[in-house]
Amino acid sequence: MKTLIKTLHAALLSTSLLAAAGAQAADVEVLHWWTAGGEARSVAELKKMLEAKGHKWKDFAVAGGGGENAMTVLKSRVVSGNPPTAAQIKGPSIQEWGAEGVLANMNDVAKAGNWDGLLPPVVANVMKYKGNYVAVPVNVHRVNWMWANPEVFKKAGVAIPKTWDEFPAAAEKLQKAGFIPVAHGGQPWQDFTVFESVVMGVGGPAFYKKALVDLDQASLKGPTMIKALETLQMVRKYIDKDAANRDWNLATAMVINGKAAMQFMGDWAKGEFSAAGKKPGKDYVCLPAPGTANAFTFNIDSLVMFTQKSADAKKGQQDLATAVMSPEFQEVFNLNKGSIPARQGMDLAKFDDCAKQSAADFTASAKSGGLVPSIAHQMAVPAATAGAIQDVVTQFFNSHTMTPKAAADKLALAAKVR
Ligand code: GAL
Repeated sequence: MKTLIKTLHAALLSTSLLAAAGAQAADVEVLHWWTAGGEARSVAELKKMLEAKGHKWKDFAVAGGGGENAMTVLKSRVVSGNPPTAAQIKGPSIQEWGAEGVLANMNDVAKAGNWDGLLPPVVANVMKYKGNYVAVPVNVHRVNWMWANPEVFKKAGVAIPKTWDEFPAAAEKLQKAGFIPVAHGGQPWQDFTVFESVVMGVGGPAFYKKALVDLDQASLKGPTMIKALETLQMVRKYIDKDAANRDWNLATAMVINGKAAMQFMGDWAKGEFSAAGKKPGKDYVCLPAPGTANAFTFNIDSLVMFTQKSADAKKGQQDLATAVMSPEFQEVFNLNKGSIPARQGMDLAKFDDCAKQSAADFTASAKSGGLVPSIAHQMAVPAATAGAIQDVVTQFFNSHTMTPKAAADKLALAAKVR
């Protein structure tokens, strides 16, 4: 019986391969929001690889850090029955799209490429809907980073703070020396990004997980969250008055050109430093956000595959998925993007020390329990819940009257939104 199934399976596989072999070059259309310097360089590599396989790259870029705009555009395209080949969609949202019945089953490609053997389970699980691969990961970003300009700290005569307790004294000195302590862009997703790093630094991984992944009511409105919100209020004092609506990469540029001392942002910021020709350890330093050295808030970018009608389009999609998992792509894309490969067992010789630290911390935190999904980057909870919590964080960040206690109560309420 087993052999019969095996033979049948082999026969089916070879027919589909034959069908695929007869396919022509396809338009491969990929929706993403990678439009900043380092991001655009990463996408250019994917385009090059697809074109080398004879396909036509159709860029579907929707600008807007964090991807909110891109998701809105994607919904209207799918609803009108015209989905792209693939779209950058992350975390629990992949399950929501899976439930709509519009995603392609990539198990054949995954099996041929041994994805189960090459991806850590924490990554592979996110890529599957009901046990079937529907997405392919391009990277692993770490969100709890702080990017600092050492020259600025030197000029101000102060050490880079490693804890939130050390932070205000250092920020005061930076300010007195004429620098903007914290480069920030006042957009909801950026406020949320700083918030989650502060929660991690104040509460530690177990608290972060209870509050922002498990959405435990008592943790959301309890004393640790209130302390985290007080800390966020403190950090807010050190951003400049022009922060409102500034794009994240412009905030990074302020650190690059020495106007500001530091930025709390995931390691796509490193892509900006690299694109500007800056070297880690010399022109800038990467440090875990204060108090988060033993934690890793992960943000996995992934291309989710939509069901395609024609054999050509299917072949283009399979080639896209195969290319993304290749060691060549995982290396060059992530060298530019600031992240580390999602594929395990890669030689990291060409990567810088920040990436090497990220890879080591990913492994260590997976063992210690410090590896947790980023809520600000749609990895932790359903999109509607994350959106409601983000609204509260932004309201609080911009309000001068809301108390941390009132904000914590609102967070707990928002966490009930599904
Ligand atoms: C994140 C995304 C990153 C980066 C960043 C800024 O959500 O995962 O790849 O693009 O937004 O746009």
